[in-house]
Amino acid sequence: MNPPTINPILIALDVPSASQALAIADSLRGAVGGYKIGSQLFTAEGPSMVRALAERGDRVFLDLKFHDIPNTVAGAIESASHLGAWMMNVHASGGAAMMTAAAEAADRAAAQGRPRPLVIAVTVLTSMTADVLSSVGVSRSPFDQVVHLALMAKGAGMDGVVASPLETAAIREACGPDFLIVTPGIRGGSAEQSGGRQDQARTMAPGDAMRAGASYLVVGRPITGATDPRAAAEAIAAEIRRR
Ligand code: C5P
Repeated sequence: MNPPTINPILIALDVPSASQALAIADSLRGAVGGYKIGSQLFTAEGPSMVRALAERGDRVFLDLKFHDIPNTVAGAIESASHLGAWMMNVHASGGAAMMTAAAEAADRAAAQGRPRPLVIAVTVLTSMTADVLSSVGVSRSPFDQVVHLALMAKGAGMDGVVASPLETAAIREACGPDFLIVTPGIRGGSAEQSGGRQDQARTMAPGDAMRAGASYLVVGRPITGATDPRAAAEAIAAEIRRR
């Protein structure tokens, strides 16, 4: 596969305030590829948080996992594009028409003279077990459902998917070299820290996840919780380069 030309480390800004998020971003700028704003920070601080980082020249992955009727999701993608988000996501289980509407909204944003934002899909949340999937009417195993939804996402025009490290190789094989795979659950190797795996169950070291086919790694606490976050980010970047 073609590795991305930018630093593949995306930092999860899982903090409740803009001041904390900006302090982390300021301390890591230049050592990482971008920042992920999820529902905790976005709900607390709103669109200004995205604008603040985008105005500093940072890549922002807006992780709000849109899941609604196609027209509504398309509107949300357009709004996120106008904020300056670089990457955003939707739930693949919203269906092919919803994903196509999202991809077309990204195209429209690009037609207005902005860089085309990347739109990726969440397949199966890693918190969902076979029993949980079955309870919502899905009889496939979580693994098969992930690959099924990744292929559907590709067919619907998504730029890639979010995937656990253990699913990455299968998705890379099914979806080809140009499909983006954004992988959280990074632990071990140079991402080891005193807190261990914390609540992450299905983990992989940074170099191994990249070798398995990841395009970007979402890393939170192994960097943000380290005594020296910048040194931790540089160690992970060095491990990735050594792969
Ligand atoms: O701190 P940590 O490295 O565990 O942060 C991982 C980030 O990736 C968090 O923002 C988490 O919500 C997100 N994520 C995840 N597993 C998924 C999808 C997203 O850990 N399957």
